[in-house]
Amino acid sequence: MADEIRSVVEFYTRHPISLEIILEKLKASRGNLDHVRPEELFPHDQDHYGGLAANDALAMRAGIADGVRVADFCAGLGGPARYLAQRYGADVTGIELTPKRARAAQELTRLVGLQDKVRVIEGDVMAAPLADESVDVVISQEALLNVPDKEQAFAQAFRVLKPGGRLAFTDWVAHRPLTAADRELLWRGMAVTTLFNPQAYGELIERAGFMLVSVEDLTADWGAILRERLAMYGKLRGEAQAAGTPAGHDAFYASYVRFVDLVNAGHLGGARFAAAKPG
Ligand SMILES: C[S@@+](CC[C@H](N)C(=O)[O-])C[C@H]1O[C@@H](n2cnc3c(N)ncnc32)[C@H](O)[C@@H]1O
Repeated sequence: MADEIRSVVEFYTRHPISLEIILEKLKASRGNLDHVRPEELFPHDQDHYGGLAANDALAMRAGIADGVRVADFCAGLGGPARYLAQRYGADVTGIELTPKRARAAQELTRLVGLQDKVRVIEGDVMAAPLADESVDVVISQEALLNVPDKEQAFAQAFRVLKPGGRLAFTDWVAHRPLTAADRELLWRGMAVTTLFNPQAYGELIERAGFMLVSVEDLTADWGAILRERLAMYGKLRGEAQAAGTPAGHDAFYASYVRFVDLVNAGHLGGARFAAAKPG
C-alpha cells in the first residue's frame, strides 16, 4: 500500500492543475495578484467534473449551509472547499495527501482571504487527522478512485461525522469489469487503484454503518465533460512546458484518452452517492 500511496503523490505532484498554472493565468488576465476574490479562482481550481454545479449538487444532498462544518476528503487545491465557504458560509477542512497540493491549497486560500473559514491539512483520508464526531458533512469528488482501501476511508468518514451527519461524494464507477491491460493503463497513467460498480460501492458504504440515501448515475453527463477536459489537458501540457513546470505526463495523457473511450462505450462512468450516519 505504501508504494501505491507514493505513486498517487507522485502523480498529483506533477498534475497539470497546479498553483503555478493558476497564478500564471491570474497574472495574465489581471496583471497582478492584489485583492484576488475567491470567485476569480473558481474557473481554475476545481479538479472534478461539472465545475461549481457539481459542488452545488453535493451541497444540496448534504444540507450544506451557513456554519455547517464540512470535511472535504481529498481536497486537491481547495477549490470546492473555498466555494462551499464563499457560497454557503460553510466551515471547511480539507484533507489532502499530496504535500505540494496541500501547501498550494493553503496559499490560494490565503490569497483570497478565506483562511478563517477554510483550511487544508496534509493527510491521508485512510487515517483522517480529524477528531471523532467533529463534522456535520463529509464530501469528496473524483478522488476515492485513488484511495486503495475505500473501506477504511468510509470508516474514517463515519468516525469523524456527528450522529445524523451526511456523506455525499462523486467518484468513478466500473459498470463492467475492466481488462487487465486497461486496469494497468489507468493505474500507470492516472493512479486509479480500485473501481467498483455502483451497487458494490453502495454496499461498501452501508458496511461502514451508513444508511444509503441515493445513488445517481452520472455516466451520460460525464461523456461531454470528458471530451472538453481532454482538449484542456492537451492545452495545459503546452502551458506547463511554457511555465517551466514538469510536464512529462505522457502516460497520463494516453490513459486519459483511453478513459474517455471507456466512458463513451459505457464501461466506465461516474456516480453520486449520498448517505447518512444514523442519528
Ligand atoms: C482529482 S483530485 C480532486 C480534488 C478535489 N476533490 C477537487 O474536486 O478539486 C484528487 C485529489 O485526491 C488526493 N488524494 C488521493 N488519495 C488521497 C488520500 N488517500 N488521502 C487524501 N487525499 C488523497 C490527490 O492528491 C488529489 O489532490
